[in-house]
Amino acid sequence: MAKLAINTNYRMPSGYEIPVLGYGVYQTPADQASDVVQHALKVGYRHVDSAVAYHNEQSSAEGMKASGIPREELFFTTKIPPRQMNYENSKRHIDNTLKITGYDYVDLYLLHAPYGGKENRIGAWKALVEGVAAGKIRSIGVSNYGVHHLDELEAWIKSTDGKEGQGKGGVLSVNQIELHPWLARKDIVDWCKDRGVVVEAYSPLVRATKTNDPLLVPLASKYGKTPSQILLRWSLQKGFVPLPKSVTKSRIEENAQIYDFELADDEMQKLDTGVYEPCAWDPTVSSD
Ligand SMILES: NC(=O)c1ccc[n+]([C@@H]2O[C@H](COP(=O)([O-])OP(=O)(O)OC[C@H]3O[C@@H](n4cnc5c(N)ncnc54)[C@H](OP(=O)(O)O)[C@@H]3O)[C@@H](O)[C@H]2O)c1
Repeated sequence: MAKLAINTNYRMPSGYEIPVLGYGVYQTPADQASDVVQHALKVGYRHVDSAVAYHNEQSSAEGMKASGIPREELFFTTKIPPRQMNYENSKRHIDNTLKITGYDYVDLYLLHAPYGGKENRIGAWKALVEGVAAGKIRSIGVSNYGVHHLDELEAWIKSTDGKEGQGKGGVLSVNQIELHPWLARKDIVDWCKDRGVVVEAYSPLVRATKTNDPLLVPLASKYGKTPSQILLRWSLQKGFVPLPKSVTKSRIEENAQIYDFELADDEMQKLDTGVYEPCAWDPTVSSD
């Protein structure tokens, strides 16, 4: 596999690059986000994953600005809230993100979850496409989309491109889903990989619930790493973009120290045998 480093980027279908490691800020209190984002950037992360629903877009952006790192070297993601998926709300949220962050553009705007029915999902997507055309957003994507939601979006993009011209339906760059050895989502991953859509892995640390797992502990001991670092390395070697979250400075650092070892093929395969455990909140399987 190609050598990975903290400054490695993947190219998205939009043509823009995305850093392979993201820093998640779900459940990070707004009054803490600026400080922890600055710390993450200081130790090498360049990519922050926020959302309207996290109520910390503004403070995350403040941390990014306070870091002193030029805007073009940073990557900021946010998301249309799951329960507000329609055209009008999405237009409003895009403008509001720019207003409260003070940014001229968002690197990546996602639809947070496939809620609201087909018409509203497509309406929200259209708002993202218009955001790109207006220069407010660089790349767009979805989150928590199962294969049937992806098929629905792809069919709409193809039909719109056919009627209005290539690119008019928008370019799907990313699907962000929960992904780790216990939730490998091969169907969704294969769909994305077949089309060059970047797969972002959320909850890549399984929310710290597997730190004593017998699959991880021997590997951690072999490589002199922690179970969290083994999980993140698995994610990187699968070609995903993991988005670990931590508000603890030592863990923010630990989660970025994953480039000085490589899991062997048989170890990757063993980790791939993690058993599927659907979480209580799994929008990818909704038939809405
Ligand atoms: N699109 C979506 O629907 C969606 C859903 C969930 C998450 N996400 C994104 O993915 C990011 C990560 O997911 P997540 O927050 O659910 O879970 P996660 O990153 O798997 O786990 C975070 C938890 O693990 C702890 N932790 C972090 N590093 C650790 C380490 N090295 N050792 C031990 N414990 C550690 C954190 O504690 P401390 O913070 O106390 O250190 C926190 O409790 C989110 O922040 C968000 O950006 C997206």
